[in-house]
Amino acid sequence: MQNKNNSLVDQLIIEVEYALGTIYDNKSDAWSSNDTEAKLNKTQSSQSEKIMRINHMGEVCAQALYRGQAAFTKDKKVKQQLYQMCEEENYHLKLCNQRLKELDGKKSMLNPLWYLASFTLGSIAGLKEKDWKLGFIEETEKQVKAHLEGSISSLPKQDKRSKEFLNTIAKDEEKHRNTAQQIGVNEIPEFLKKTMSILSTIMKEITGRI
Ligand SMILES: [Fe+2]
Ligand SMILES: [Fe+2]
Repeated sequence: MQNKNNSLVDQLIIEVEYALGTIYDNKSDAWSSNDTEAKLNKTQSSQSEKIMRINHMGEVCAQALYRGQAAFTKDKKVKQQLYQMCEEENYHLKLCNQRLKELDGKKSMLNPLWYLASFTLGSIAGLKEKDWKLGFIEETEKQVKAHLEGSISSLPKQDKRSKEFLNTIAKDEEKHRNTAQQIGVNEIPEFLKKTMSILSTIMKEITGRI
């Protein structure tokens, strides 16, 4: 019993450390080339900044979802895959960090709250894995892809650099969706898909402001 409690406490500490490391990650050297750097005016820069802040929040949430599901899955292979995909999400986070810094932008103040909410959702997906398998992750990646396409088309034309970063991210998200499909997905309930979509719209709206 003592051992089980210890390992639960250890896991909790690891998760808290991971969450803090993600939310307060300030590394901004993920992309070394400056080829697509262009001077933006104030309006263009603030438009890009808003889009990148929302995408940064999305990468925070993606990691929380994966970590939440990984914490509760009983399948070791799935756990390993989730952690691997999480590493790619972490790279996306660093890309968004870098671009936000270049644009003199700020991250969302509410990232700790978004992380907690997403980790909880991921945990539910982990507990429901017998019914959903990786259906929740697959639906998330599907919605993320649609969101990224919207983001890319809303960027100012001059901001080729943000576009380059988001295109790189989009390719990985497509890969994540395929990985989920290969592992196995069951259709999640329609009301859940709608709830996810409404929730992410609200989160994006708020994150666009603070
Ligand atoms: Fe991502
Ligand atoms: Fe992803």
